[in-house]
Amino acid sequence: MTSSEYTASTGRFDTMTYCPAGRSGLKLPALSLGLWQNFGTARALATQHEIVRRAFDLGITHFDLANNYGPPPGSAEENFGRIYAQDLKPYRDEIIVSTKAGNGMHHGPYGDGGSRKYLLSSLNASLGRMGLDYVDIFYHHRPDADTPIEESMGALATAVHQGKALYVGVSNYTPEQTRAAAAALAEHKVPLVIHQPSYSMFNRHIETGLLPLLDNIGAGSIVFSPLAQGLLTDRYLEGRIPQGSRAANSSVFPDRQVSETYLARARGLQDIALGRGQTLAQLALTWVLRHPQTTSALIGSSSVAQLEENVAAVGAADLTTDELDAIEPYAVDGTLR
Ligand SMILES: NC(=O)c1ccc[n+]([C@@H]2O[C@H](COP(=O)([O-])OP(=O)(O)OC[C@H]3O[C@@H](n4cnc5c(N)ncnc54)[C@H](OP(=O)(O)O)[C@@H]3O)[C@@H](O)[C@H]2O)c1
Repeated sequence: MTSSEYTASTGRFDTMTYCPAGRSGLKLPALSLGLWQNFGTARALATQHEIVRRAFDLGITHFDLANNYGPPPGSAEENFGRIYAQDLKPYRDEIIVSTKAGNGMHHGPYGDGGSRKYLLSSLNASLGRMGLDYVDIFYHHRPDADTPIEESMGALATAVHQGKALYVGVSNYTPEQTRAAAAALAEHKVPLVIHQPSYSMFNRHIETGLLPLLDNIGAGSIVFSPLAQGLLTDRYLEGRIPQGSRAANSSVFPDRQVSETYLARARGLQDIALGRGQTLAQLALTWVLRHPQTTSALIGSSSVAQLEENVAAVGAADLTTDELDAIEPYAVDGTLR
């Protein structure tokens, strides 16, 4: 397919909901698409095009990347660059592209961590791979105890002042680190707009510390792995690892998670989902989006069918108090550790 063959759906903004990230003007879709695992060299580029096009047609305006996504590292940005050039370039002002630096990217002392040297050189490399002049959000991917937070945040502020990033965020920062990051950015008159933490029914660490803090400092959140990499879908409910699944193919998915404890909890949640006319994946998404501080849930999808199932969760009825109470015994923090 050439660029002239893709025209975005005219109804693309009709059913998705969009909320501001914290007290910023940046609106994000309730569901955003992450390119961590399904956009490297192992998946056909045609499938990647299909997923991104369908996402945009369904109102998903936000695509989340990082320098090291693929696998191998860098390949997701390269593939997104191809998809952007062919399909999305006419819509640049309608999409939000994020990238990150902070995880290990290349050998040597300047390819990991939070130094100014690494963060700013990595952003330039990311822009080159994606064929973009700027990203909408640039994140520090994880805290780095070896670099002063003022240096890492100074680098993010420079990216904004250079016009290479419109907004900045942090990911995997503790509440204390997040508060310090916001204060360091404020010195440069750059707001901390968003935090990207993990969050799901099986991983609830943000509920007590981080979400109240974000409220306090006026930042939003975009929660990653809300489906617990597929464990909060019907993919593993028979107790085995299906061929072609992330559990079968990827080192980021420890198979010890498909345990009897996991199965009992996931099946309990599945029954509640079916009782409200949802799939388990849809219930898991409705559940993470119940907080006002959760601006967006950042999903992965290896097929258009998964994407469509997930997007159908948007606009579902709010969870009732009885439903939330019924979920509680199964939504156990630490199920995945
Ligand atoms: N900041 C960070 O440190 C960090 C870390 C991790 C992720 N992230 C971001 O978060 C994004 C999402 O993470 P994630 O991919 O772990 O999210 P996720 O939505 O929890 O998991 C996605 C996986 O779940 C399965 N799945 C999704 N929908 C399904 C459905 N309806 N039915 C059955 N299976 C379904 C697919 O697995 P199969 O491939 O097996 O089909 C898919 O690849 C990433 O792409 C990245 O942008 C950020």
